[in-house]
Amino acid sequence: MDINLKEQLAELERRALSAIEAADSVKAIEDARVAFLGKKGELTAILKQMGKLSAEERPIIGQAANQVRETFEGAYSKKITALKNADMLSRLKTEGLDITLPGVRRKMGSRHPLRIVLDEVKEIFASMGYTMVYGPEVEETKYVFDMLNTFEGHPARDEQDTFYIDDKTLLRTQTSSVQIRTMLKNKPPIAVISPGRVYRCDEVDATHSPIFHQCEGLVVDKGLTFGDLKGTLEAFFKRLYGNDIKLRFRPHHFSYTEPSAEVDLSCFKCGGKGCGFCKGEGWIEMLGCGMVHPAVLRNCDIDPDVFTGFAFGMGIERITLMRYEIDDMRLLYENDTRFLRQFN
Ligand code: DAH
Repeated sequence: MDINLKEQLAELERRALSAIEAADSVKAIEDARVAFLGKKGELTAILKQMGKLSAEERPIIGQAANQVRETFEGAYSKKITALKNADMLSRLKTEGLDITLPGVRRKMGSRHPLRIVLDEVKEIFASMGYTMVYGPEVEETKYVFDMLNTFEGHPARDEQDTFYIDDKTLLRTQTSSVQIRTMLKNKPPIAVISPGRVYRCDEVDATHSPIFHQCEGLVVDKGLTFGDLKGTLEAFFKRLYGNDIKLRFRPHHFSYTEPSAEVDLSCFKCGGKGCGFCKGEGWIEMLGCGMVHPAVLRNCDIDPDVFTGFAFGMGIERITLMRYEIDDMRLLYENDTRFLRQFN
């Protein structure tokens, strides 16, 4: 038996335990651990000499070495917990943490005004029997233009105000594309609205943004007339803005409707007399609409001699601005919570 190694281990254990005992900081005890148990530590150095031992001696010394390691680790973990607790207590004292101070209160968010208005628009149309449908924002030109009777060379296709991805793909400039997708999938009777984002290369100002929201409407059935369109929009706007609102249908041109109209609402601020908000007009332009063009119905395999339809497309921003008497559209996008929290 190699008395020497065994004695060395016992001596190491004594010194290690007293080092732990003496350690008065986390750093001191960590240093001790490295010095005794580390890769270049004393215990490793002793174990390196085990090669010299006989086969009988080796397990005995190995076991003794393990014992030393376990004893050390037990003492170490007790002491380090105590040191850390003491450290925390002294920091609590010296740093003067006041745990009775109130916490930081998180502010509640609120629904965005565009969302509030869109939810209301959806609710009104749902109550009139309309179904919600959605289409992609990255869209094919055939759905945004061609099948809506808007052929090559039409100013609406101008690259100046349209984000093209390639010749046949673009960020949709209008939700009217969903009309085509709907009529290709479903046959009349159809009554849908389709809200969503649209994109145009517009500079940001008080009334323009390159991204904005529209809500499209499409109804196709037997015997629908312009009277149905007028009645529908009138019922809708009276629900939204109250019974005093007046609608004015102005003849217009859209390639996918015939006849087409733009609809103005009496100014909510002056009631039609003319003021700064409506630029003295008494009216505010709200949306485009018309009777679905027979060519569009035919493109979707719907017989225009049997079915007629009407369609409309409105800007959600515009409805929101008017609803809350906001005179700058940029306020809707700046995410200033002082502005946003006024609406719920
Ligand atoms: N797509 C038109 C626009 O973006 C709005 C519109 C006009 C939609 C007439 C329609 C419609 O469905 O029939 O300005």
